[in-house]
Amino acid sequence: MFTISFVAVLLLTITKITASTITDPIPFGNERLNDFFFVKNGTIFHQFNHGAYGGTPKIVVASQYTYVEQMESSIDAWMNRATGYRQCITSAKQRLSTMMNIKNASDTVLVDNASEGINVIIRNLDPPLGPSDYILDLSIAYGPFKGLYQWLGSRYGVKVLEVPIQWPVTGPASFIDPITAALKANASTIKIRAAIFSHVSAYPAVILPVKELVELFHQYNIPVIVDGAHALGNIEINVEDMSDVDYYFTNTHKWLYSSKSSAILYVRRDHQHLYVPAPAVVDSAMTEDFETRFIWTGTRDRTAYCAILSALDYRQSLGGEERIMKYNHDLAQYGGQYLSRLWETKILSPENLQSSMTNVQVPTNNLTICQMVVGQLYNTYNTMVSGASSIAPELGDIPCYLRLSAQIYQEQNDWHVLGALVLKLLKEFNSYMPEKKPSRF
Ligand SMILES: *[C@@H]1O[C@H](CO)[C@@H](O)[C@H](O)[C@H]1NC(C)=O
Ligand SMILES: *[C@@H]1O[C@H](CO)[C@@H](O)[C@H](O)[C@H]1NC(C)=O
Ligand SMILES: *[C@@H]1O[C@H](CO)[C@@H](O)[C@H](O)[C@H]1NC(C)=O
Ligand SMILES: *[C@@H]1O[C@H](CO)[C@@H](O)[C@H](O)[C@H]1NC(C)=O
Ligand SMILES: *[C@@H]1O[C@H](CO)[C@@H](O)[C@H](O)[C@H]1NC(C)=O
Repeated sequence: MFTISFVAVLLLTITKITASTITDPIPFGNERLNDFFFVKNGTIFHQFNHGAYGGTPKIVVASQYTYVEQMESSIDAWMNRATGYRQCITSAKQRLSTMMNIKNASDTVLVDNASEGINVIIRNLDPPLGPSDYILDLSIAYGPFKGLYQWLGSRYGVKVLEVPIQWPVTGPASFIDPITAALKANASTIKIRAAIFSHVSAYPAVILPVKELVELFHQYNIPVIVDGAHALGNIEINVEDMSDVDYYFTNTHKWLYSSKSSAILYVRRDHQHLYVPAPAVVDSAMTEDFETRFIWTGTRDRTAYCAILSALDYRQSLGGEERIMKYNHDLAQYGGQYLSRLWETKILSPENLQSSMTNVQVPTNNLTICQMVVGQLYNTYNTMVSGASSIAPELGDIPCYLRLSAQIYQEQNDWHVLGALVLKLLKEFNSYMPEKKPSRF
């Protein structure tokens, strides 16, 4: 009798342990900091700037290193055979395409980053851009892209029609309305060769209504390039459900945790011509099709592309995309609301336009002071936020706001600490200025 019940209890315990090992998810929060290389200074460390450069987990870097070894130990096979780096590219494209709902992975190529993606497309439009052509972008375009458009202007005479976006945004109409107005006013008199906008903008960071905007531009027969630099791993991407978008690219080294430099570029089949889009560096005969044209990059180290596979595996081990994105999204929501209440300022977008980044106005009217606060946070408190930014008077007049990224290695407490530090520093600089008069006084 005793033996039987003992065995039964033992069996039950074993079953329980096994079940819990399978079902209990890995906890998110500060414990996950150990998965990354972050250097803590004492106990203080708060990273709110994942959106800028991403962050690659140790396990992903370790796997990349095994690919470096494979490359160096069998260099000829690595470069020339299907078993070399080409295999990484094929598998990564396949898995990413499935994730992004792209029907045929042959319509994608891997590139270094979003900037390479835009260069590959815009400098290779067919026919090439010339002095009678316009490209349309938004006032919130990523700064370096505006640099590219300027360069196109001085080199080829290309002109830019920039649509102003007002802040705070209140919903999809904040984008659809000004773009509709610009198209109505200008589309029949100037030749707009392409429209470019972000899926998740950089500064301030909000989600744009991609499907509706693509449809709108297509009504005017304008091809659309969507910059998804901040999208993959942050929000769901469904390329099939984007009204036949012409071009789409997204980094994998930001929110997806892969190694730096890795990104994927989708080009709709009817935009794949004999010689274009061409890779940023052309160094082989351009007779192959779109997909193969991009594969050969000589001695360029492509192990970052291989590491996409381990980044995806790491995310699976954490419970998968939905769990990660939900945690980050909810934390960004919580953090934005907490800070805007504490600071008595506003968040620059409603929840339905927010991803895992939130933009909160800082309670000061002095951008220089705000930048000093950011500097102090970094130098003294090991706390990383995006550089302090402002919004021009004609676009909403926000003297200073911070773009803050939520991540699995944070907890609500990180946001509490940030809130208190910013207030303390502003008061030290004698520049604390809440937007509204606190009603309790
Ligand atoms: C994908 O496109 C390639 C290149 O055109 C083609 O050979 C292949 O059959 C397509 N695959 C599917 C599943 O449609
Ligand atoms: C993107 O990659 C290209 C090509 O490697 C590089 O020249 C460029 O500086 C990179 N830009 C960013 C923003 O990472
Ligand atoms: C676009 O239309 C507006 C309103 O008619 C006009 O003021 C502006 O000059 C036009 N822009 C261009 C580039 O033609
Ligand atoms: C903002 O702060 C800086 C640094 O203290 C100061 O030099 C500047 O005059 C201030 N600007 C305004 C508009 O108050
Ligand atoms: C560590 O933090 C202290 C203040 O908490 C600061 O004085 C020191 O410079 C920091 N050291 C490094 C290496 O960041």
